[in-house]
Amino acid sequence: MHDVDATTEQMIRSVLAYAENRLRLDPVPLDGVPREPADLAAMTRGLLDDAGHNPDQVLGVYTSLLAPAVISADSPRFLGFIPAAPTKAALLFDMLVSCASIQGISWLEAAGAIHAENEVLRLIADRAGLPASAGGCFVSGGSAANLSALAVARETAKVRGPEVRRWRVAVGTDAHSSIINTLRMLEMDALTVQTDDHRLTGDALRAAIDADGDPSSLAAVVATSGTTNAGIVDDLAGVAAVARDRGLWFHVDGAYGGAGLFAPSVRHRYDGIEHADSFIVDPHKWLFSPFDCAALLYRDPALARTVHTQDASYLDVIHDEPSEWNPTDYAYHLTRRARGLPLWFSLAVHGVQAYTDAIETAIGLARDTAAEIRTRPYLDLVRDPDLAVVLFRRTGWGPADYTRWADRLLEDQVAFIPPTAWEGEVVARFAFLHPNTPVSLVTEILDRMA
Ligand SMILES: Cc1ncc(COP(=O)(O)O)c(C=O)c1O
Repeated sequence: MHDVDATTEQMIRSVLAYAENRLRLDPVPLDGVPREPADLAAMTRGLLDDAGHNPDQVLGVYTSLLAPAVISADSPRFLGFIPAAPTKAALLFDMLVSCASIQGISWLEAAGAIHAENEVLRLIADRAGLPASAGGCFVSGGSAANLSALAVARETAKVRGPEVRRWRVAVGTDAHSSIINTLRMLEMDALTVQTDDHRLTGDALRAAIDADGDPSSLAAVVATSGTTNAGIVDDLAGVAAVARDRGLWFHVDGAYGGAGLFAPSVRHRYDGIEHADSFIVDPHKWLFSPFDCAALLYRDPALARTVHTQDASYLDVIHDEPSEWNPTDYAYHLTRRARGLPLWFSLAVHGVQAYTDAIETAIGLARDTAAEIRTRPYLDLVRDPDLAVVLFRRTGWGPADYTRWADRLLEDQVAFIPPTAWEGEVVARFAFLHPNTPVSLVTEILDRMA
């Protein structure tokens, strides 16, 4: 298995040939043939037994049977949930990270990789206006990043604050589901702040705290810079000011929308982010990285170290030199893939301006789509897009109509665009992210609602 023998040579040829073809697809097709669990089980039956199989046979099962049953998140026709659009440079470098087993646990083991990752974190921190002392690490996704950051918020509150039996965190109504899961896992409760138009504001937060019977149990407030469902950026400056007044940890969840920091046309929406105690953004979303990659930044990384550093005698050596940066000390993980490297490579190859342009393209498409929706009498725009998510309704349609429309679009390989809900009503939703999604695709999708 570890020798370079004839089988290895065969796999190098055929797997790399497949990877090469995949990389050259332009555009990436949608795929996503519906399959029942029993069909898939029949396709793979017998492969995992004691004896091995010819690699080309196994690869064939994957390429012709399994891969088509996966909707390509990196297709420009993938317009649901939050799509992906990794650059070719990032995908290629991701292969290199795998082939070289590049880990990024400690400076002792992986100084080169960690240096490059930290330069990317610095670039993001600068865009956010965080101080020179800010730092963190890359983790697997926004959920892991939110969990790691809010664990630090809670532990910091314990040290600084009064004796509290159960800590709470103020959140907007549209905070991501991972925040609510995080609170449950950390045995904290939410103070849900009701807001106008789903946007958490400083005024709403202040009013909620003033009306609350137990404000001293609040450890933190979470603002979202780009809600998942509607792409709304909370009033970060207002929330930051209240957090400062009331001694709360200010966490900004920018898993989806944090990339907008690179887009001049919307940068003003992020004013106040520079006050964040912790901030996350998922490069596997709108910073064009492969899955899975989230950037986690702390204003004061020393606080994170006190919470996340793992204490084991065999790890003492990685902590011998206090000036060395160990990504493992900044989140709930130990072993970690150096998943920031593909972004580093791609940024260095293409330049930051190319990222700005690609992000602006999706924002522009969202604006054009909103304008197009306004011109069609049978459609109704739910709200003007802050970023690149567009919510709209087809007048007269009920939930079954949206499902039929979306199913048909996928069946015909036109688009993946599942409906969502807005204030209890099923509505349609575009999530734009891929810079090569053409406006003609939007027109075709809207035409199919007429
Ligand atoms: C605002 C926000 N926060 C957190 C997450 C969770 O991120 P992940 O799916 O990478 O765990 C998402 C995912 O869409 C998100 O949009």
